[in-house]
Amino acid sequence: MPQRVVTNDDLSKIVDTSDEWIYSRTGIRERRFARDDEYTSDMALAAARLALSRAEIKPSEVDYFIVATASPDNTFPNTACWVQKGLGCEGAACIDISTACSGFVYGLQQGAALVNSGESQICVVIGAEKLSAITNFKDRGSCILFADGAGAVVLRRSLDKGRIVCSRMGSAFDFDALAVPAGGCRMPASYQTVDEGAHKIAMKGRATYQTAVRKFAEMAMEACKRGNITPDQLSWVVPHQANEHIIVSAMERANVPKEKIVMNLERYGNTSSASIPIALDEAVSDGRIQRGQYVLLMGFGGGLSWGYNLIKW
Ligand code: UT7
Repeated sequence: MPQRVVTNDDLSKIVDTSDEWIYSRTGIRERRFARDDEYTSDMALAAARLALSRAEIKPSEVDYFIVATASPDNTFPNTACWVQKGLGCEGAACIDISTACSGFVYGLQQGAALVNSGESQICVVIGAEKLSAITNFKDRGSCILFADGAGAVVLRRSLDKGRIVCSRMGSAFDFDALAVPAGGCRMPASYQTVDEGAHKIAMKGRATYQTAVRKFAEMAMEACKRGNITPDQLSWVVPHQANEHIIVSAMERANVPKEKIVMNLERYGNTSSASIPIALDEAVSDGRIQRGQYVLLMGFGGGLSWGYNLIKW
């Protein structure tokens, strides 16, 4: 996580809002913003280094880097290439995944498929974002949510340890719900797009909220069914940290008690594709997640896109 802490009170000096409004509507108290000279790939690199050192794997052993991000350093080279360069090696496949807040679960599904098929021996999957660079700080309805950070996992084949039981991804086109309108070929950068803030995140919060609750609940129920387990057998759910009320009401619908939800958005806000690996890391590091447990990761975001990974840890 970047060092700089930005509280709700800090945001209330930029837009017309308050700690009380933000906390009561979202569950967020504070978030981290990267320095001006700290980029998505820097946070991705730090997360990859930590994950590789914990897995006792040398960077040169990695043959696939997948970075899920909605705020890449550049259109190209991709952020994964920056990470490989930062690790001081070359030759691995490097790709970015652009499915916003569900990017990490997409990356995990693809990484696992590569490793399981033998196409990759060791694959690093990273979720990383510098959303503060693409947040519209004139829009109080969205700027209170987004934040920066990164998390990473190392995947390798193993017969005696954990496994991904099942994954499922999906999407629907909804430009109005959540988008960065300008900067691509449809609306190339111009003075006008810059003046209009069209390179920043535009979101219809209420509509996104309702779809997110429905999708999170459907995914939890479907994952249990496909994994042949009951919601009781889930030890932990690690959802994209969108909004506390979205997560809790969706899990109520799916019969998953609040105590089983890993949530840290109070401290970190919504870090899009980074939120799941950051929360996952906390729950593994503090001993909540243990070997043999069923852990469900669920993402939802721009596209609209969604997906889950059910893991036997
Ligand atoms: O990462 C995945 C994608 N994103 C999400 O999951 C976001 C999902 N949506 C949400 O979390 C919520 O919709 C928000 C937290 C973004 C907004 O909460 P809401 O209850 O849906 O608010 P709203 O947009 O319906 O606005 C209600 C009122 C409006 O005032 P009026 O028209 O009723 O007078 C807004 O102008 O609240 C006002 N408002 C604010 N007031 C103070 C909107 N933002 C703020 C604010 N501070 N930051």
